[in-house]
Amino acid sequence: MPPSLDALEVSLLNTSGKVKLDARFRTLFTLKSLASVSDENCVRVISIIGKGFEDDSALLKHELAYVLGQIRDVRALKCLEDVLADEKEHTMVRHEAAEAMGAISSPASLPLLQRYLEADPEVSIRETCHLAINKINFDSSEQGKAERARQEQLEKAHGDAISAASNAAAPIDPAPATVHVPASARAEGNVYSLENVAHFRTSLLDNSLPLFERYRAMFALRNTVQQGSKEAQELAMQALADSLVDPSALFRHEVCFVFGELCHPASVPAMSKVLDDDAEHEMVRHEAAEALGGVLEEATEGGEIAQAAVVKTLTRWAEDTSAPRVVRESCIVALDEIAYNNDPTQFQPMDAVELEM
Ligand SMILES: [Fe+2]
Ligand SMILES: [Fe+2]
Repeated sequence: MPPSLDALEVSLLNTSGKVKLDARFRTLFTLKSLASVSDENCVRVISIIGKGFEDDSALLKHELAYVLGQIRDVRALKCLEDVLADEKEHTMVRHEAAEAMGAISSPASLPLLQRYLEADPEVSIRETCHLAINKINFDSSEQGKAERARQEQLEKAHGDAISAASNAAAPIDPAPATVHVPASARAEGNVYSLENVAHFRTSLLDNSLPLFERYRAMFALRNTVQQGSKEAQELAMQALADSLVDPSALFRHEVCFVFGELCHPASVPAMSKVLDDDAEHEMVRHEAAEALGGVLEEATEGGEIAQAAVVKTLTRWAEDTSAPRVVRESCIVALDEIAYNNDPTQFQPMDAVELEM
């Protein structure tokens, strides 16, 4: 039997003071999956998550905002607007709130996003508002609707029941992946192939393009790693790694987030380098730590990647009291997740775990 929402609330909000951060993250994702069970659940889950913003962990709160976006229900907007408008809140949390508004994609969010696009002192907030505004406008445009319909058709044509299910669970990206490459021989089909990697790479690295367009190329490269041939995968991974020198911290953090989604052993050197760089922005190092935590579980097939070295890197920063709190906590959560996933007594997937309190 799944745990009750009451019990999940107690766990997420850590009312006992004894729930570890990684267990609270698992509770959060259990709540996310329960939100889709019924409308009543959805309302309750949004309210429980909303109470979590009283916490003092920016890492937890940014994840709360992320999940509110992924639930994709307009009833979460009020809470997200309050978080964005709270200028004393940690930038990473406010960023995630603005991004979540983009994920929900209601035109009603546009005036507030526009205000912070124009006036926020933090560049990563302004950049996130740019992305969210473009996504909302794109989603409601004729082009956006046509692209979505074509994507769905392609997925139906190629997909089986399993990929349909995983598509339904797929995260909402801050910018939809490019689906149309005009000069491509496959322009009307699946564009995530070797011949288009160079096109995506050029857009990704082109500083003069709007950030939204570069993000679209970034997610197209992610899709290429997931769907392309081995050669296409390698080149797409290389393009993503090469883009980590970009001047925008927000852009770099998203590249690390994409590496976290891909769980690809080839990303370990790049992600270790980012985490080890104490001059790097904390938001970027946080995503690199999470990406490193994810690679280990996946790196099984001949994957003699230096597991011990990754654990050592994560442990080093988890224990370094001079490192920013979000970096330390990300490393602690990554290490706890590695231990949890390597524990043979844990058979359940992340979003169906027993409640830990
Ligand atoms: Fe983010
Ligand atoms: Fe994050």
